[in-house]
Amino acid sequence: MPLKDSYLLPAAADMHVHLRNAPGPIAQLVTPTIRQAGVDVVFVMPNLAPRPVVSVDEALEYKRHLQAIDPEVTYLMSLYLHSSITPDEIRKAKKAGIAGVKAYPKGATTNSEWGVVSFEPFYEVLKAMEEEGIVLNLHGEAPCSAATDVTVMNAEIKFLPTLMDLVQRFPKLKIVLEHCTTADSVKTVRSFGKNVVGTITAHHLSLLVDDWSANVNNYCKPSAKTPQDRRALLDAVVNSNGKFFLGTDSAPHDITAKRGKGNTAAGVFTQPYALGYVLTALEEGIARSDIAADAVTEAALRGFLSEHGRAFYGVAPATRNVLLTRDGQTVAESFKGEGAEVVPFRAGEQTWSVEWQ
Ligand code: NCD
Ligand code: ZN
Repeated sequence: MPLKDSYLLPAAADMHVHLRNAPGPIAQLVTPTIRQAGVDVVFVMPNLAPRPVVSVDEALEYKRHLQAIDPEVTYLMSLYLHSSITPDEIRKAKKAGIAGVKAYPKGATTNSEWGVVSFEPFYEVLKAMEEEGIVLNLHGEAPCSAATDVTVMNAEIKFLPTLMDLVQRFPKLKIVLEHCTTADSVKTVRSFGKNVVGTITAHHLSLLVDDWSANVNNYCKPSAKTPQDRRALLDAVVNSNGKFFLGTDSAPHDITAKRGKGNTAAGVFTQPYALGYVLTALEEGIARSDIAADAVTEAALRGFLSEHGRAFYGVAPATRNVLLTRDGQTVAESFKGEGAEVVPFRAGEQTWSVEWQ
């Protein structure tokens, strides 16, 4: 076997999660699965519906509800970049410990209808974020449109000029290009200084376009791309240099929203088995010769899964460890709660078990 049969690693940090409205049926179902995966810090996305999180008070109330579900997790909270946010709200956010502001290009993904059309009206807010050290989290896709020749396959590449423009205008702003899916994004993030980093999901390390075009449970935004892109993501995990860390973008949707009459909801649910999926993807990457077996060192795993994300957000290193064991559990067919049912990624497959030490 290219990987060891077990790993003792520091508790992981997942810097991109969707927990949905709390209190609420999906939050109730998925929040308890954070620690089951070996994670104790999460960056919580603000794209709630029917109303996104646009003020500090709303973010703090949301945090209290999540803490009521699992008080052992550290929740890094975020605001949704919106015209109602002022530079003063950013200063208030800093004092309240809010970690970031997420920008969704309008129409690019789930619950992005309140999103950004142009960044220009937000320059004063971005300046305040740069001064205060509040992170700008970017959903890095141009909205799909025949008029601009953007489809799910090139939406991320078409966004990169916007990223470059933002970095140039706000050179000290801390920026995360969320859920990188292309070799071009990896290269672009690497070309900037330490203040610009990227998150990588577990599922993009194993999926290709063919996998989601045939299965709604593998469909998300940004969508998985080509073998060359996947190779670049695997390489970014093992050669991160602090520039790339885990953000699963675990995005639970009720089974009816994935398989109902209308368009399927974008989002892959990976929360309960996040670390196992990463290890499996690395192992499959080695088997395909996408990455070298000796590149998957314990230092690389610790960095990508736990250390780099905490360091970027100024969170203390993990104080507990988790033991991951090959084939120690089977991925559930679905997670069912009061009023919600969510199907996880790789349902029914063997994965790594997690024990807190
Ligand atoms: C996310 C969601 O469901 O909220 N969906 C997704 O496909 N990733 C939103 C997002 O992060 O794009
Ligand atoms: Zn997301």
